[in-house]
Amino acid sequence: MAPKKEVGRVPLAEVQEKGLVRLAHPPFDVLVAWSDGEVFAIEDACNHAGASLAEGWLEDDCVVCPMHAYVFELRTGKLQRPRGLCGDQRTYDAEIEGDEVVVDVNDDNTGLTVSSAVPATS
Ligand code: FES
Repeated sequence: MAPKKEVGRVPLAEVQEKGLVRLAHPPFDVLVAWSDGEVFAIEDACNHAGASLAEGWLEDDCVVCPMHAYVFELRTGKLQRPRGLCGDQRTYDAEIEGDEVVVDVNDDNTGLTVSSAVPATS
């Protein structure tokens, strides 16, 4: 099993209080969410037009984008509605360690890590 690649950490209490927290990790910030006693992490920038999902709101086990109200499932990053109008959000592993939520690159995005996805400058 490949070693985990940590993206960052946020205080668990902040995630529990706010529900949605943006973990700054330019250029791909991560949304850390609290839903039904679990933590989740998905790409923050909505792949429809780039709004920050951390500015949106929770709806059951989904996050609703604040710009056009597209709905993404937190566990899978999949677009729930409207169907077919944009892609899914990249997901990350999120685990509670003590009083923090630790976000790691997961098996689904291994090979497209945050750092390796940055375009090379020449
Ligand atoms: S920018 Fe998120 S739904 Fe359009």
